[in-house]
Amino acid sequence: MNSKKSALERITPFIYGTTRLGDDKIPFEERLRTARAAMNSGLWFHTSRAYGNALEVLAKAFSENPERIPKLIIKIGWNNINQLRGVIEENLKPLGLEGMQLGQLCMEGELAEDFANGGNCYKIFSDLKAEGLVQGYAVEVFPWTSDAPLRALRAGYTKGIVDGFIFYLNPLQRFAANELWDEITGRNENIIAMRTVSGGNIYKLRDEPGYAWKEYLQKRAAAAAPIFEKSGVKNWTEFCVRFAFSFKQVKATVGSTAKIENLNEFLSAKENIIPLPEEIVKEFEALHYKWSDEFDIHAERWSL
Ligand SMILES: NC(=O)c1ccc[n+]([C@@H]2O[C@H](COP(=O)([O-])OP(=O)(O)OC[C@H]3O[C@@H](n4cnc5c(N)ncnc54)[C@H](OP(=O)(O)O)[C@@H]3O)[C@@H](O)[C@H]2O)c1
Repeated sequence: MNSKKSALERITPFIYGTTRLGDDKIPFEERLRTARAAMNSGLWFHTSRAYGNALEVLAKAFSENPERIPKLIIKIGWNNINQLRGVIEENLKPLGLEGMQLGQLCMEGELAEDFANGGNCYKIFSDLKAEGLVQGYAVEVFPWTSDAPLRALRAGYTKGIVDGFIFYLNPLQRFAANELWDEITGRNENIIAMRTVSGGNIYKLRDEPGYAWKEYLQKRAAAAAPIFEKSGVKNWTEFCVRFAFSFKQVKATVGSTAKIENLNEFLSAKENIIPLPEEIVKEFEALHYKWSDEFDIHAERWSL
């Protein structure tokens, strides 16, 4: 891992994800209130130009209270290195910011291949860092994009430039494919776990038709509920935060909400995080290995 100071050093254990700030079915003012509350609690934020008008909600909240502007993780990429600067600009400009804490590298096609082969992209990543546009990098991973990070990691190319890996890691999803997961944990690389509560309350995911956005998640909620109940933890949000931090590589978990009361649940769950009992974690680990091999890696890209 990076021997120099990591850009993750002061990361907050809970990161406020901003997808829900882009939901235009919710009044702008209501979303703004939640953004302000998250800012006031000192959390890092995770955002992207792809989240509706979340950046406009953030821009307003930031301009009202510049002292409280959070550290940001922003999605950047995509298919070739020439796109990077444009993507950075389309995120930073609306926010009126000069740089971001962490660039979430979303890489496909030519860029993923270059990354896997130790190519020119590493020089560009360094340049962007030297210019202060990006303080550090987390590599985004999905089951269908696990191969390039695996090759890069094994070849040692990520050393000194990549601060960690960011992917869905929650009770119902672990989106680094099995081989990559073993490599990341074996090498003790930093992880940022996404989708804290796996998309919502476990009983709603299990029981409310249409609540889980895909059928596989409803089935996984049904498989997970008895393990959750056995743990004795009463609150799903608390369980999920503790689940993420049951892996020592996890530095933060990213969850989203448009509601102040749910934000408050995340905030109380992040206080004194105690890892879950080992046998509970082991049961989920076994499910994750199985789900990954039997389902996730065969799924159509972006279908999960
Ligand atoms: N590829 C990527 O980069 C990527 C992909 C997915 C997610 N993410 C990041 O991760 C963040 C979180 O992901 P996510 O929104 O998909 O998943 P999540 O945080 O697991 O779930 C959010 C959903 O759960 C609900 N919720 C939140 N807290 C709750 C609580 N205490 N009780 C019941 N329901 C609750 C929210 O509804 P309410 O708003 O009504 O509370 C929302 O519908 C995103 O905002 C984004 O920043 C990144």
